[in-house]
Amino acid sequence: MDTAALTMWRLWAVCAALAVTAVWAQEAEKLTQPNPCTSKQTCSECMQTPTCAWCALPTFEATQIAPQRVRMSLRVHEAHDLKVQFALAPNYPIDLYYLMDLSKSMEDDKDKLSTLGNLLAQEMRKLTSNFRLGFGSFVDKVVMPYVSTVPANLESPCTGCEAPYGYQNALSLTSDTEMFAREVRDAKVSGNLDAPEGGFDAIMQAIVCKEEISWRSNARRLLVFSTDAGFHYAGDGKLGGVVKPNDGVCHLDSRGRYTHSDMLDYPSVSQINQKVKENSINVIFAVTAEQRETYDELSRHIEASSAGTLSNDSSNVVTLVKQQYDAITSFVEMKDNSTEFVRIRYYSACRGNTTTETNRCDKLKIGQQVNFTAKVELIKCPEDPARWNDIIEIKPAGLNESLIIDLAMQCQCDCDRPGGPGFKPAAIAAECNYGGDLQCGKCVCDPLHFGAFCECSQSDPNGRIGEDQCRPPNSTDILCYGRGECVCGECNCYPRENPNEEVKGDFCECDNFSCDRHEKLLCSGPDHGSCVCGECSCLDGWTGNACQCPASNASCIAPGDTRQCSGAGECVCGQCVCKEEQGARYSGKYCEDCPTCRGKCELYKPCVNCVVHDSGELKEEGRCEEECSHLIINKTDVVEVENPDERICTFSDEHGCRYQFVYGYDGETQVIRAQETKKCPPAINILGIVLTLIAAIVVVGMAVLMLWKLLTTIHDRREYAKWDSERKMAKWDTGENPIYKQATSTYKNPAYGGK
Ligand SMILES: *[C@@H]1O[C@H](CO)[C@@H](O)[C@H](O)[C@H]1NC(C)=O
Ligand SMILES: *[C@@H]1O[C@H](CO)[C@@H](O)[C@H](O)[C@H]1NC(C)=O
Ligand SMILES: *[C@@H]1O[C@H](CO)[C@@H](O)[C@H](O)[C@H]1NC(C)=O
Ligand SMILES: *[C@@H]1O[C@H](CO)[C@@H](O)[C@H](O)[C@H]1NC(C)=O
Ligand SMILES: *[C@@H]1O[C@H](CO)[C@@H](O)[C@H](O)[C@H]1NC(C)=O
Ligand SMILES: *[C@@H]1O[C@H](CO)[C@@H](O)[C@H](O)[C@H]1NC(C)=O
Ligand SMILES: *[C@@H]1O[C@H](CO)[C@@H](O)[C@H](O)[C@H]1NC(C)=O
Ligand SMILES: *[C@@H]1O[C@H](CO)[C@@H](O)[C@H](O)[C@H]1NC(C)=O
Ligand SMILES: *[C@@H]1O[C@H](CO)[C@@H](O)[C@H](O)[C@H]1NC(C)=O
Repeated sequence: MDTAALTMWRLWAVCAALAVTAVWAQEAEKLTQPNPCTSKQTCSECMQTPTCAWCALPTFEATQIAPQRVRMSLRVHEAHDLKVQFALAPNYPIDLYYLMDLSKSMEDDKDKLSTLGNLLAQEMRKLTSNFRLGFGSFVDKVVMPYVSTVPANLESPCTGCEAPYGYQNALSLTSDTEMFAREVRDAKVSGNLDAPEGGFDAIMQAIVCKEEISWRSNARRLLVFSTDAGFHYAGDGKLGGVVKPNDGVCHLDSRGRYTHSDMLDYPSVSQINQKVKENSINVIFAVTAEQRETYDELSRHIEASSAGTLSNDSSNVVTLVKQQYDAITSFVEMKDNSTEFVRIRYYSACRGNTTTETNRCDKLKIGQQVNFTAKVELIKCPEDPARWNDIIEIKPAGLNESLIIDLAMQCQCDCDRPGGPGFKPAAIAAECNYGGDLQCGKCVCDPLHFGAFCECSQSDPNGRIGEDQCRPPNSTDILCYGRGECVCGECNCYPRENPNEEVKGDFCECDNFSCDRHEKLLCSGPDHGSCVCGECSCLDGWTGNACQCPASNASCIAPGDTRQCSGAGECVCGQCVCKEEQGARYSGKYCEDCPTCRGKCELYKPCVNCVVHDSGELKEEGRCEEECSHLIINKTDVVEVENPDERICTFSDEHGCRYQFVYGYDGETQVIRAQETKKCPPAINILGIVLTLIAAIVVVGMAVLMLWKLLTTIHDRREYAKWDSERKMAKWDTGENPIYKQATSTYKNPAYGGK
């Protein structure tokens, strides 16, 4: 859709447009001078003054936002930039409602305020000629524990005090400032018990009682809330037995008294905030210094509100209100009530040069214009078509002025709708064979017809309609399995490129080429079977998913045997699958082999013994012939394993003679070759060995004895000889001590040769 085709139009009266244009046309510096237009009393005077315009409507009101109503039609993810201009209009009407805490402590404030009423009006009149003032007061709920309910106290809780009350609207908004001063002076203070007051009840009533307070629709609405104490809020009412939540509805009697003070609980902060937003009220909390912090926090939770410090006798109330008014009007913040389907982003350069994403501009002066660009984007279409036309309101916070966007979401095409261009009802839709509506070039068939051009008529007795006949019952598969064309409820299967292939079936579900293959042959080739609708149909004698298996088990039975796979396996697809059990692993073509089990050697041993060696149990029992005739046993001299399938068996008989045989297959035939002659060990002469052994032991024993005898004899002789020689050399003198030595020594002179 072409966004240029968007239509926008201004709804407001021509005169309003003129007036606003006039206002905007003025440059900011000119505005610092008095507005030349305001002094003109007649239309003619006005027309003679440049830049001024006259509005002929009796109820003309200034506007600050333009445009005021826009129609927009958007598609999903299509953003449209909407230019919004805002200017603080000079001389914009102001409604100021003064809501005062009239507990005893505020008495001096009240007196001061009554004297300042006129000053306040004067100051505000400098801002606008269109100023109105109202007054209301509050104490608290007349229930224990907020207020003493002792009968005397109920009449007059303190000296010179009035009976306590919840909220009293003393003076609806009026331009008569004298009356304001009078009302304030005449208002009597009252007394209560606890420190926090019932201000929230009063704020709520002052906001929602539009008629009673007589808020004007197009005016800056200021609600000055002045107190020196805290506030009760939702839930506090329980203390006094008031449990019903606040209903946010006006309950004032003809005297302007709040009637539901002791029936409804205090409102919550968010209830107040909601009503403030709905009614575009600017709340100014004028509170004493010690309460300032509390109310600063509160003002953060209430839109377009602010807080200022009131001196303890309210003497600064005029400057405070003016300051707060300036603060409130010095910025503009755009708010909207778009839903999750629409996103609005704001861009503005405010008063500078660079545009940023912001919905707020600060430091505005009267008459200064700021431009916002609102980027309106449709995120997604609501499911409910009733919500495809939406109204969105963009408004500056705290002002009852708005830009209304009539948003038409382009969630469907015109040609889809009866009556739209490109829509042809069935009765005249020749393109759809009169069997359905032509919508945006597409046929939408009635229940009796189907097909791309509604050319097929419904006749399926099973109740399946239209294209459903082109798929199996209850399935959601694609039509004709994608292998054919659905023509009026019947599948026309596409021919295959390969002439050997064919697709058929009611839903083209069958073919003769997608069966199992064995060794690349479809159903193991035509001599085994053929492919029928995805399954092999095997010829006689063949079986298996691809007809690859012989139907009989004959090929699994060893020749001469009666058991399949020698009883040690199963016949699967014409071949033995040998079993494995308890460590015995069978192998071989017929599972005849088992190297790890005792198996065949033991099996054939009796027959070999009987046939070849003429011995063994079979021989003794004479059953050799009957048991062994099925075996072919060849006798040879030397047995050797001739091929890997053969196994050699070795045994010894009771005489220790070794004999061997091999068994195996020669083709299909079981063959045993057996050693004809056993190999016996030569006989051993045990007696000879024993005697030799004894003789050897005796000989060795004798030899050892003789050696011992010889050695001792030699030793004895030596000892004797030694003794004997020593005996001969001994020259002992009888009677002389053998260890006695003479004291004299005798030396021989070696040179002395003679005797
Ligand atoms: C805002 O102004 C319109 C007229 O411009 C009026 O109908 C409407 O009631 C006002 N809204 C409030 C909350 O006062
Ligand atoms: C008001 O405040 C002034 C100082 O700001 C102080 O001197 C005076 O006593 C206060 N009056 C009351 C009634 O609290
Ligand atoms: C905006 O641009 C003008 C001229 O282009 C320049 O004189 C002025 O200083 C700029 N203002 C700001 C706030 O940048
Ligand atoms: C706002 O837009 C208008 C026209 O679209 C233009 O004349 C005016 O200068 C703009 N104002 C600012 C402050 O950019
Ligand atoms: C937005 O506010 C306007 C005016 O109050 C109302 O008509 C519209 O329904 C609201 N839109 C949404 C989406 O709430
Ligand atoms: C199809 O579904 C219906 C209802 O779910 C059932 O009654 C019918 O037996 C189903 N037909 C087949 C062929 O499964
Ligand atoms: C499949 O069917 C077609 C037509 O009946 C036939 O010509 C073709 O030989 C068949 N192909 C096979 C592989 O059976
Ligand atoms: C072939 O052997 C298998 C398993 O050993 C058996 O299930 C099947 O019935 C046999 N078939 C014939 C024809 O004997
Ligand atoms: C076994 O003996 C038969 C005749 O006795 C002979 O024909 C055959 O060839 C022999 N087989 C082998 C493997 O020696």
